[in-house]
Amino acid sequence: MTAPRLEIDLDKLHHNARTLVARLADRGISVTGVTKAMLGSPEIADTLLRAGVSALGDSRIENIETMRGAHVPASMTLIRTPMLSQADRVVAHADLSFNTELDIISRLSSAAQKAGKTHGILLMVELGDLREGIMPGDLEHTVRQTLRFPNIALKGIGANLACQSGVVPDAKNMAELSALADSIDATFGPRLGIVSGGNSSSLQWALSGADTGRINDLRLGESLLLGREPLHRQPIDGLHTDAITLIGEVVESKVKPSQPWGELAQAAFGEKPPATDRGPISRTILALGQQDTDPSGLYPPPGIEILGASSDHLITDSGRRCLDIGAEITFQLNYGALLRAMTSPFVAKVTTARARPRSTARTTRGPQPTGRGPGDLIRLRTSCRASIVDTLRAVVRSARARSRDADHRPASHRNRAPHRRDVCHHQIERSPERGRLRSCR
Ligand SMILES: Cc1ncc(COP(=O)(O)O)c(C=O)c1O
Repeated sequence: MTAPRLEIDLDKLHHNARTLVARLADRGISVTGVTKAMLGSPEIADTLLRAGVSALGDSRIENIETMRGAHVPASMTLIRTPMLSQADRVVAHADLSFNTELDIISRLSSAAQKAGKTHGILLMVELGDLREGIMPGDLEHTVRQTLRFPNIALKGIGANLACQSGVVPDAKNMAELSALADSIDATFGPRLGIVSGGNSSSLQWALSGADTGRINDLRLGESLLLGREPLHRQPIDGLHTDAITLIGEVVESKVKPSQPWGELAQAAFGEKPPATDRGPISRTILALGQQDTDPSGLYPPPGIEILGASSDHLITDSGRRCLDIGAEITFQLNYGALLRAMTSPFVAKVTTARARPRSTARTTRGPQPTGRGPGDLIRLRTSCRASIVDTLRAVVRSARARSRDADHRPASHRNRAPHRRDVCHHQIERSPERGRLRSCR
């Protein structure tokens, strides 16, 4: 299979989403699944919906259009303030958008009138993190003006924390959001169906047992996809942190000195040579670089250390082991590394699942993607299916050959039919040609 590639385990993703949906449901809070790090993949959207998220949110109208084009059956929210230049597209494809500027709401109103639709608005309030948001003292005025626009329906208010400045969602700022919702409803009548209390960073507060007040929705991305909370990047109890992994392939494997020689000037990406001389080390180079991901956000497997990266190369110290050329290394990754890998045209995206339910959401109609861009996941998925079929055939052929010879697998694995995930593991970990470790010192 081609590398580098992101492997997305839909079963683990489903588990993460279902677990958080259930935990938050106990607190009276629904989940908007944020798909922006998944390029609006209809297959992943479908997985999140099956797990019980009540709506989908994305920061890019292009991703929402991709999901609409694939007939994903969900309410969709644009979670970034719309650009004036995209107002028509926002009204055409998003049910709801997050807003802070009356000029933009005015343009959305005109676009909605033209389209003969009503567009939903959620007003974002500034609670101290200093990214988007109306200052609390200006909220009442903004609501009054918003209610005057034709074809605009005010659906709720919300806030975003722990993004620009790392402000932690807590009892105080969440109570402030609840109080603002109460005050708006008291002044204008009950209008605010949604009070959106933030992103994955609000989980700690929401699940702490604190009074959740009017907060009835959270927008979750990182926690669903990577199983970590973003305040301290700790694993969330009971969730998978490896639902999505990045696989790179070894293209050079040599014992070399740990320090460069010759006169030193600037390196391509400002890397500094190591402070101490470790003597000769196993320098393993993977065809994976800044064009593919954020190398500083990769977590290598035990025994492998990342030394640096350039545009196209990831340089590692593989300790006492030399990895074969063609060996594949699996990395876990943080949100930044995931975003860059997902949006890199050089990284293949491969989904795996034990059993895929049939779903109308994955029937693509209308124009098919033609070039590299947001729609590529669909095309790559299709080619991935073809390669999975090829791989399955190869596995069956080799299993038959093996059963003719001696069965070398551990007793616990004998008589077990290969399913899709085995195929991937087989390729990555067990293939005799790939990934074999040899001792080099
Ligand atoms: C407004 C808004 N809400 C929610 C999210 C999701 O954040 P997280 O991935 O931390 O859950 C983001 C960022 O992606 C965002 O910008």
